[in-house]
Amino acid sequence: MVAIDGPAGAGKSAVSRRVAAELGVPFIDSGMFYRAVAWLGLEEGVASDDVVRLVEIATRPRLRIAGEKIFFEDRDLTADIHRPEINDNLSAISQVAAVREAINRRQRRLAESGVVMAGRDIGTVVFPDTPHKFFLTASLDERVRRRLAQKERRGEQADADEMEREIADRDVADSTRLVAPLKPAPDAVIIDTDGLDLDQVVAKILEQIRR
Ligand code: DC
Repeated sequence: MVAIDGPAGAGKSAVSRRVAAELGVPFIDSGMFYRAVAWLGLEEGVASDDVVRLVEIATRPRLRIAGEKIFFEDRDLTADIHRPEINDNLSAISQVAAVREAINRRQRRLAESGVVMAGRDIGTVVFPDTPHKFFLTASLDERVRRRLAQKERRGEQADADEMEREIADRDVADSTRLVAPLKPAPDAVIIDTDGLDLDQVVAKILEQIRR
């Protein structure tokens, strides 16, 4: 079990995907669960403080991850969960302890056979006992640049100022929430990825794991 945490745009997904491939285990992006609960809640008109209904959504057996996609019943939600209109709901539901606990249980079940999991609280809360914990950081400027490039590759439009605001807002929401705030575990290896390319970050992590 390898935990890779950090703020939005620090490169967690790209790095985790590569580390998982090198180790021959699945990569799980834990943010997909939070996003899917936020999306389905929005779609079904559930208030972001309706804990009972949100937990019901988070525990649905028909909500499932397959590779890097997430499905509810036969519907692929992967594109919808990245739409900007979920952002307010996403920050709100990420603060609900009971929703987090429901998602944590699913994450622990998925990891039984060994995975690389990326998120905000994987090393601090979900798998505090794993010896392999990494915390990726990068400056806000660099993270905005990476997210813009990612959008461009997908053929989507993005405004730099708006992207900077969105990431900065999410940094504040993720780091200041009372439950499972974004922070490095005391025993995490912190990697500042400014000025490092993907290969260099992956190499650092693999070297540390193999040590
Ligand atoms: O990684 P991401 O940007 O897709 O995550 C979206 C949001 O989900 C993030 O801003 C907060 C929440 N999240 C969380 O609270 N804990 C995690 N382990 C992963 C994501």
